[in-house]
Amino acid sequence: MSTENIIDGKAFAAGLRERVGREAAQVKDAHGLTPGLAVVLVGDDPASAVYVRNKGEQTREAGMQSFEHRLSADTPEADVLALVEQLNTDDDVHGILVQLPLPDQIDEQKVLSAINPDKDVDGFHVTNVGRLWTGGDALVPCTPYGCILMLKDRLGDLSGKRAIVVGRSNIVGKPMAALLLAESCTVTIAHSRTKDLAQRCRESDIVIAAVGRPEMIKGDWIAPGATVIDVGINRVDAPEKGMKDDGTPKTKLVGDVDFSEAAEVAGAITPVPGGVGPMTIACLLRNTLVAACRQNGIEPPAI
Ligand code: GUN
Repeated sequence: MSTENIIDGKAFAAGLRERVGREAAQVKDAHGLTPGLAVVLVGDDPASAVYVRNKGEQTREAGMQSFEHRLSADTPEADVLALVEQLNTDDDVHGILVQLPLPDQIDEQKVLSAINPDKDVDGFHVTNVGRLWTGGDALVPCTPYGCILMLKDRLGDLSGKRAIVVGRSNIVGKPMAALLLAESCTVTIAHSRTKDLAQRCRESDIVIAAVGRPEMIKGDWIAPGATVIDVGINRVDAPEKGMKDDGTPKTKLVGDVDFSEAAEVAGAITPVPGGVGPMTIACLLRNTLVAACRQNGIEPPAI
């Protein structure tokens, strides 16, 4: 199998972080403004703790300020809301991210709605959702935005291309469709009830897989030369790697696409891991810079 059709998300994300860092340095020189990102972590979910640590490190590496708030798993909802309110009014904080999932006693939607939309660097607030669908100055969800950057890098102008988004989540599927539409693609949003899904994929120039089902999308669903972006991250048993000390099989990460099959036909494809994943934090840094500029009447850089 040739590897030239594999999109290296790790390298692409490193390049994007460098550009964001350069633009942040320029904003600092010209305006004395240091963008700041606040991350709130409630509880001790190990995967979330790793995300938050990586976010903090990469924020500082890009020359921005990182504010990290770690709260215990039994923190009452009112305390989280009070912290969000404090961050909303802190002029050094330009972006706020509350790490999901939140513990059961906290209403996620209530917390997300409490974030000032202009600081909502996740792009999850209904105001940003509305701005995105109506062509306004939205803060755009990071993962879909990263997918668009990778698509444009590979394909240039996306105008007129047939794109299918498999998955309709608020975090990926729906904003992904809005962004593809804004690029003048002809967009299909597919999901678990879609009839003839394989055929719908086969008719598409661009396939975005965001269903959360391991290796569901097969090689013969992909048109020769199509571009495949795999947003899925699924941990599955990998008995071929041997057993763990507790007698259960070792595990591995796979996407929503059967990579070995699809890579034989796709014109370009993202692997899992090392594809879309690394782009998410890079886009979060980009959103923080954009938010900081807008809050201070500065034209944001076009990244
Ligand atoms: N948990 C996993 N990914 C994300 C993300 O992109 N944003 C937030 N807020 N929580 C997450």
